[in-house]
This record gives sequence, structure tokens and C-alpha cells, in this order.
Amino acid sequence: ISEDTPPLTLDKRSLPAVAEYIKSGQAPRIVAMTGAGISTAAGIPDFRSPTTGLYANLAALNLPEPEAVFDLTFFRQNPQPFYVLARELYPGTRYRPTVSHVFLALLARKGLLHMLFTQNIDCLERAAGVPPERIVEAHGSFATQRCIDCKVLFDGERMRKFVARGEVPRCAEEGCGGLVKPDIVFFGEALPRDFFDQMQRVSEAGLVLVMGTSLQVHPFAGLPDMADEAAPRVLFNREEVGSFGTRADDVMVLGDCDAGVRKLADALGWGQELEEAWRAL
Ligand code: APR
Repeated sequence: ISEDTPPLTLDKRSLPAVAEYIKSGQAPRIVAMTGAGISTAAGIPDFRSPTTGLYANLAALNLPEPEAVFDLTFFRQNPQPFYVLARELYPGTRYRPTVSHVFLALLARKGLLHMLFTQNIDCLERAAGVPPERIVEAHGSFATQRCIDCKVLFDGERMRKFVARGEVPRCAEEGCGGLVKPDIVFFGEALPRDFFDQMQRVSEAGLVLVMGTSLQVHPFAGLPDMADEAAPRVLFNREEVGSFGTRADDVMVLGDCDAGVRKLADALGWGQELEEAWRAL
């Protein structure tokens, strides 16, 4: 951000001020960070919402603790619970992007999206039209899968069949037979290289949007704090999370993210365009 950018004195509550800031051209580089909360309206449960979250509904799989379903050590001992869940979560074509996903695609189309960091593995940002080069899938995705022992890639079509049957695929390599796992980041695994390569874009941001995440899982949860002091941070979430509220320019739009995003789009004069883009999907 150029030195002479006046510090934005955003009224804490006002989206119109954020809209003015975007329209003024002072926020050319918007960096967005998203979590499962932007896909709940698509019908995909998030993880930690009290009753509807995935972790509250895995009891049937009698796991030592809910997160075990994404734990590599547990997966090696018992891959079955993960594959029961994978059948539910597999991207396929069952789920449609939400208004929040489409808003992000609109930002990209208008040349305002510097980068989108997502924790989601549902690929709905892509489906909404966000260009892949503007997306960092920080927790991986179901796009590819490989053997956790010999690391050889496993065929996508074969994977789809195994997942559809809720069966555990094993490596086809001679003498291996290791477990196959989608390239989603399990607890205990390193995040993709791309996450670390692209991280500095957060400090280049003129505006940071955080949408639908509890900011509980690091290192992703540390991204909003990497924003420059002069860059306003806007939270669209049901609840206050992370360090929001500690900076003068933090704006918290608490409630349903689609509703908050529609309000911002209306303040930008993009309301009609957003609805049409969403309906056109
Ligand atoms: N509108 C606004 N906020 C919502 C909505 C909605 N429609 N639905 C859910 N939320 C909020 C919840 O209140 C919560 O604060 O979104 C947040 C979702 O938080 P989590 O369920 O923890 O999901 P996420 O932050 O993406 O989890 C991070 O944890 O399990 C790991 O790797 C997994 O990527 C995941 C990571």
C-alpha cells in the first residue's frame, strides 16, 4: 500500500464505508480467507458449529475424538471412518456454490481479487468461477489422491468408484498395497508448498476479507494477523473470531455470510450482477 494512503477511518459498523473504500480504488488488492462457513448454505456441514457441525455428528463412527477422522496416525490404523465421511463430502456435482462463493468470483472478474486462501476441500470456489491461479487450497483438495506409503498417484476414476462405494482404496503398485488418501491436509501433515509461497500476498493486501471460519486451525488462522496495519479487515461470520476487534479498522459483519455479502454487494451497486451471476451457475 502506498505511504500516502490515508489510514481508513472506518466506522466499526459500516459496510458502506468498506464499499466506498473499494470504489475509491484504494483497495485494489483484496485478499480473502475462507472456511467451511461459506459452504454451509450449500448444504455442506461445517466442522465446529455446535449441533450441525461435522464434529458433533461423527458419533456413529465411534472415533476416539472427532478430529481423528482427519488424523494421519488414526487413518493408518483405521481408514474406514474417513471413507464413510469422504462419500458425504466428495465434491462431485451435488453441491452448488453459494452467494459468498460467487461474490469472490465477482471480485476476481473485476480485477480486485489479489488472492483467495481457502481451508475448504469442496472446490466450490473454482465451481463459482474464481480463477485457479487466484486460489490457494491451504488444506488441499479431493482433486488428486496418492498412496501414503510410496506416494504414487492413484487414478481419479478408480478413486471415484471406491469413494462412491464407501470402500478403502489401496495402492496398485507392485508390492506396495499401501492406503490411498486424497490430497487433503490431515492433522499432522504439512500444508501445500503453495500456501507458504503465496503467504506474503497478505501483507500486500489493501483490504482483507475473512469469511465463514472459526480461525481455530494454524497456520491458516495466523493469516489475518499478517495484514498491514493500514489494510482494513472485514469479517463475515456468525461469531467474532481470531483477533478481530483489536484493530481500529476491523469491521465485523456478524450473521449469515451470504446476507452480509449481499449487503456489501448492494452498497457497491453490484447487487443485481451478483444475483444474476449466482442464478446463472
Ligand atoms: N454464515 C456465517 N458464518 C457461518 C455460517 C454461515 N452460513 N455457517 C457457519 N459459520 C461460521 C461458524 O459459526 C464458525 O465460526 O463459520 C465458522 C466455521 O468454523 P469451522 O466449522 O471450525 O470451520 P473452519 O474454520 O473452516 O475449520 C478449519 O478445521 O477441521 C479442520 O481442516 C479442517 O479446514 C478445516 C479447519
